[in-house]
Amino acid sequence: MDGAKIPAHIGIIMDGNGRWATARGKKRSYGHRAGTANVERITEHVFNRGIKTLSLFAFSSENWARPKEEVDELMRLLEVYFKKFLKKLQKENIRVAVMGDTSVLSSKLQKVIEKSVEATKNNDRGILNIGINYGARQEIAHAVNKLLSKGEPITAESISENLYTAEFGEPDLIIRTGGELRLSNFMLYQGAYAELYFTDVLWPDFDESELDKAIEEFGRRHRRFGKVEES
Ligand code: FPP
Repeated sequence: MDGAKIPAHIGIIMDGNGRWATARGKKRSYGHRAGTANVERITEHVFNRGIKTLSLFAFSSENWARPKEEVDELMRLLEVYFKKFLKKLQKENIRVAVMGDTSVLSSKLQKVIEKSVEATKNNDRGILNIGINYGARQEIAHAVNKLLSKGEPITAESISENLYTAEFGEPDLIIRTGGELRLSNFMLYQGAYAELYFTDVLWPDFDESELDKAIEEFGRRHRRFGKVEES
């Protein structure tokens, strides 16, 4: 892999926790716990590989429609995650960011998130950007409304500059685990030219070697950004 192109920014749709648990005769929440453990493993590997930004789809604006028990478990896991890994992210010099409308989350979770974002804001080895109550269409509407309220012109660039991720650039590679071939409202605007990588591997089984395969595949793609020559 030496000398091969690596993406600067990877987005991951972490799908398949439920099926992973069901296949083991367990409740879906068991799969979400395994999925959370995998977030730790993959985050470490991503930054060790020199990738600058990792955007993870943890909870979509549509996930509220899941059974209350499952939503509660996901919220609990997020809280535990932020509390438990804050020290580690600090030590690893990783900045945490959140994209999505967090105003509807419990005030306890909002505080834990704010604390992590604030405590790591000057870290510069990498950015871990987590989508919580995130939906790309809502993000685009939010950006347009921001522009309207400022009385600024609506252009492709100005929308881009007002997305949650404006600071972090666009994902070069979007990975979806769990076998579905769709983007499910994830980074639709900033992912316009992202290379897409789909795998049947369920998220809790998506280990370091699976991530390396995706990065290798990215290295083989020819990105043209609508032009003729590769840039
Ligand atoms: C999709 O699997 C996964 C989710 C809806 C949640 C993803 C959340 C985590 C991995 C854990 C929390 C995240 C962090 C950052 C700590 P699914 O339930 O739709 O699986 P299925 O398609 O097999 O039913």
